[in-house]
Amino acid sequence: MTLRSLFLTGTFLAFSVASGAAALAASFAWSDPSLSPDVRADLVMKAMTDDEKAVLIFGQFGSVQKEHAFYPAKEARMGSAGYVPGIPRLGLPPQWITDAGLGVATQRDSAAPYLERTALPAGLASAASWNPEIAKQGGAMIGHEAVRSGFNVMLGGGINLVREPRGGRGFEYASEDPLLSGVMVGAAISGIQSNNIIATVKHYAINSQETGRNVATANIAEDQARMSDLLAFEIAIEEGKPGSVMCAYNRVNTVYACENDFLLRKVLKTDWAYPGYVMSDWGAVHSTEGSALAGLDQQSAYTFDAKPFFGGLLKKAVAEGRVPKSRFDDMARRIVRTMFANGLFDHPVAEAPIDFAADKAVAQKAAEEGIVLLKNKGDVLPLAREAKRVVVIGGHADKGVISGGGSSTVFPIGINAVPGLGPQGWPGPIVYLPSSPLAAIKARLPNAAVEFVDGTDAKAAAAKAAGADVVIVFATQWSTEEADRSLSLPDGQDDVIAAVAKANARTVVVLETGGAVFMPWLDKAAAVMQAWFPGSGGGEAIARVLFGEVDAAGRLPVSFPAALEQLPHPKLFGADLPKGTGFDMNYTEGAAVGYKWLDKTGQKPLFAFGHGLSYTRFSYSGLTAKPMQDGIEISFTVTNTGKRPGKDVPQIYAGPVSGPGGVLWEAPKRLAGWSKVELAPGASTKVSLRVDPRLVSVFDLASNRWRTVAGDYGIWLGSSSADLSSAVTVHLDEAVHPQAGQR
Ligand code: BGC
Repeated sequence: MTLRSLFLTGTFLAFSVASGAAALAASFAWSDPSLSPDVRADLVMKAMTDDEKAVLIFGQFGSVQKEHAFYPAKEARMGSAGYVPGIPRLGLPPQWITDAGLGVATQRDSAAPYLERTALPAGLASAASWNPEIAKQGGAMIGHEAVRSGFNVMLGGGINLVREPRGGRGFEYASEDPLLSGVMVGAAISGIQSNNIIATVKHYAINSQETGRNVATANIAEDQARMSDLLAFEIAIEEGKPGSVMCAYNRVNTVYACENDFLLRKVLKTDWAYPGYVMSDWGAVHSTEGSALAGLDQQSAYTFDAKPFFGGLLKKAVAEGRVPKSRFDDMARRIVRTMFANGLFDHPVAEAPIDFAADKAVAQKAAEEGIVLLKNKGDVLPLAREAKRVVVIGGHADKGVISGGGSSTVFPIGINAVPGLGPQGWPGPIVYLPSSPLAAIKARLPNAAVEFVDGTDAKAAAAKAAGADVVIVFATQWSTEEADRSLSLPDGQDDVIAAVAKANARTVVVLETGGAVFMPWLDKAAAVMQAWFPGSGGGEAIARVLFGEVDAAGRLPVSFPAALEQLPHPKLFGADLPKGTGFDMNYTEGAAVGYKWLDKTGQKPLFAFGHGLSYTRFSYSGLTAKPMQDGIEISFTVTNTGKRPGKDVPQIYAGPVSGPGGVLWEAPKRLAGWSKVELAPGASTKVSLRVDPRLVSVFDLASNRWRTVAGDYGIWLGSSSADLSSAVTVHLDEAVHPQAGQR
């Protein structure tokens, strides 16, 4: 039994938000919304006692206030992730904290009731849309549900680079690329925060795998970290302005992330001039003085840590001068400033009804745009409505769609469609959202015989498949926080697919997985569709793409390796060590993550980063690139040359072709921009975009700035990292680019 499941024995109580809101009715000098958050924070700080400041920086697990009544916490939401009391005397509301990036998630154990809310598709799925507007709408929807559930802090978006494809939480994140991750998660954050609440970008940083997550050290050269994982955070923070940053469980270059002076004080708060606050992950604090001095502002859930480090111990450290009073004040100030900046003070949360039908439509739209059509031999898809005999196999497609485990699990409205699977306590159970792909397929084929086979017996499945007009096999793989995953489908599903595809050449495989998987049967399957964890409207979304009611519009945000040997570390770090043993994760590949590593080492993946087919065809022309003072201006034209309307994601990559840049870059090329376009058959559009100078620079440690190295750079346009159709060369002059905190 984990620490978390021990705590999860409380009952989920109905709650009222009246008390927090009532206190706000009073008027204070800092109540004036026309004042800046800084002025308001300064005013309230002057009125605040040290004991009150101490309240703000010390949080508890939402479900344990009964057992750990350190503060009277009647207002905490049982079953929520966290709670920080408010200060009614000053009109400051409590911080009611909920997970996570895919929807309002309840902390639970099998006996406890939970909140039933709307689940977005996996973070990877939203990112696979390559459409920031989709991510923003998704964020706005889950933030709206959070507010209406009485929460004002939401612990998302997750943005760790999918550096290790076996990482169990990859599904919560966006991609292996810092630009794509930063833009998509930044958009999700701004959506969440559009509800006047705080979003938390997490887990800072280099938290790439679950194995050993509380003990292992991610070792990476500073410049390489800046050009990869840290750049993803940097861009997301610029785009989304999250009120808080959650430091990770793991160590980075041997120092725990939540007491890592380099990560917190130097990079985040100094170089990026981040004005928000740093909160700890649940159980990620290991010291008082070390954490406070390094830049941690809030111990989020002290019951998960060995000691209440930011409780009495911090007061003592301040009294003894081991932590300067100014640092202690800064912690509280950052929190109240963010509360003002994000609207927590001016817009008290209030429980309110939720329009679940409207929210499901948002989730479904995100799923539709993030489903990636990987293969479509002979245009077997979209499915013909004239089909007479269709066989659907496996994946509990008769019941629903799978979702991921751990703290991001959103419990469905209605029931878990397939109860009893996986661990029944934390981080389980396996939740199937009740959106049946089979039902959605049947609804579109009123005149066909549509049979379902559960897919547990390869022979039986193959026998049914033989002679059908088309066969659709669903394959699922649960993945979760606290465990890493295999890149092979579990439970003999590969054998079932192979047998079925052998029996019927018109076999379509739909994958519901939390990331890349191997496909030993690939050459036999006619079509393969990656549906990720498709969320509350997943069944309907899958059917809509299968039948071509919407175009197959997703593109891969991660590479699909062909074999473990293609990875920088074929063996998962710490895989055979006993739990609790520390180990090194030496990320010697540096910033060459995903496709960059594959490019650098000349390897051909199963499916490349950026790949995805449409039901129509596109061509690109007229690529131009013009160096500007601050970046590169790119333009080109996209034409829909096919017969159907469709969506495309033309991608721009950049890399040095002459000069010393080639030696300094981590890989031959980087994603430098993209556009998502929608075009009618025969239509064209001109795309213009600007390349961020950091994407054609290296991080220069000596000057602590981004540096563009003089030389010639290739600008490539294509439909994936492995399919580049046009190229131009630009000359870039030597230049340095200051960081936000240096401007
Ligand atoms: C996870 C965080 C989560 C927190 C609160 C931790 O186990 O790593 O992502 O927000 O718990 O539930």
